[in-house]
Amino acid sequence: MKVLLVGNGGREHAMAWRLAATRGVKVLVTHGNGGTDAVARAVPVAPNDLDAVVKTARSERVDLVAVGPESPLAAGLADRLHAAGLKVFGPVQAAARIESSKAFCHEVLEAAGVPCAPARVFDDARAAMAHLATCPIPAVVKADGLAAGKGVVVATTREEAIEAAKEFMVDGALGAAGRRILIEEHVVGEEASFMVLTDGEHVLPFAPAQDHKRLNDGDLGPNTGGMGAYSPTRALPPPAQKDVVERIIRPTLAELARRGIRYQGVLYAGLMVTKDRGPMVLEFNCRFGDPESQPVFARMRGNLAEVLLACAEGRLDQVKVTFDPRVAVCVVLASDGYPGRPRLGDPISGLDEAAAQQDVVVFHAGTKRRSDGAVVTSGGRVLGVTALADSVKAARERAYDAVRRIRFDGMQFRKDIGVRSL
Ligand code: AMP
Ligand code: GLY
Repeated sequence: MKVLLVGNGGREHAMAWRLAATRGVKVLVTHGNGGTDAVARAVPVAPNDLDAVVKTARSERVDLVAVGPESPLAAGLADRLHAAGLKVFGPVQAAARIESSKAFCHEVLEAAGVPCAPARVFDDARAAMAHLATCPIPAVVKADGLAAGKGVVVATTREEAIEAAKEFMVDGALGAAGRRILIEEHVVGEEASFMVLTDGEHVLPFAPAQDHKRLNDGDLGPNTGGMGAYSPTRALPPPAQKDVVERIIRPTLAELARRGIRYQGVLYAGLMVTKDRGPMVLEFNCRFGDPESQPVFARMRGNLAEVLLACAEGRLDQVKVTFDPRVAVCVVLASDGYPGRPRLGDPISGLDEAAAQQDVVVFHAGTKRRSDGAVVTSGGRVLGVTALADSVKAARERAYDAVRRIRFDGMQFRKDIGVRSL
């Protein structure tokens, strides 16, 4: 079986690694990064170049296109592939709106009666300011559109909330993505990332994970794409996962179906597990999480290509996935200046030594191989050092032991990944 994987970050390296673990599965990856060469063949296609992806999928006669990131899905890549008669894992544009418009997502959740943080949607800056003058603080200001992790401000003062709304709506800091905003009630609890596969009818839950969104230890500093993750998380034990499928996932799929939208692909619920109201949705994403994919695929067993194909063909009830019972901890190594302006081109040393440690996988994200063979930084999040062990404590020790062997100038990482679960 031949799979074209769209994307080139840490999530895609983890997916390619897992896909290639099954004998007979050939993986092609758009662009690739400094680590994907070992498991996939890179094709010179940009993930957002829809024409080129369709053309390559055809000329390479792939059996399946699996889409990693949200932006090609939001731009309609799955629709284009369907129209070309190709099989695709990932939602069509109308379904990807669950992520690409937070206002649409909120409307669907309310209509479906799914527990979520109460929110109001604003197109008019003056109306938003009037609301912010009196609403409870902290408040969460969210840009409606895709903003690569920069569209959410958890404001602890009224001034900060007003400033965020002004930046998004008036100054146009995020372009069209921020002209419409949501102002959401701040909810408190333990966060969990719960990803399920669905073909629109059947639901196949993946192991839950917990992300670490802030740059610095103790959940301080600016928001990032994610500085580390681990799986499983105590925040969502198996009975709670069942509850989320019944009370959150299925009603959302039913409401989408009522609107004529069949959702096929990953549905990723970003949850806040509250003490009094149970799990509530903070957001939905239309793809696997990054860096959650790294620990989750490190634990996954079985034939990923077959599972993704079954999902694309609407027969998800015919496949199963299992997860290694051990804990996986992934520590993200980021470049100097991330999440603002990352510095690029720094040589990385110690990769082979780190990867040779027992039960350690080093997933690449923002790396590339120079013509002289050296692997250098090429993005904000550079590597996801992932380790498996019997406990969170042991997996942390293993992951950080591998991290210590890797060096590049200005390397930043959190030292407390997984500490909340100790
Ligand atoms: P999102 O991209 O919507 O997941 O938001 C990014 C982060 O902001 C989340 O992971 C939470 O830590 C935080 N956040 C978002 N919405 C809320 C909310 N309503 N209450 C508290 N924290 C939130
Ligand atoms: N790690 C958060 C996300 O993938 O959206």
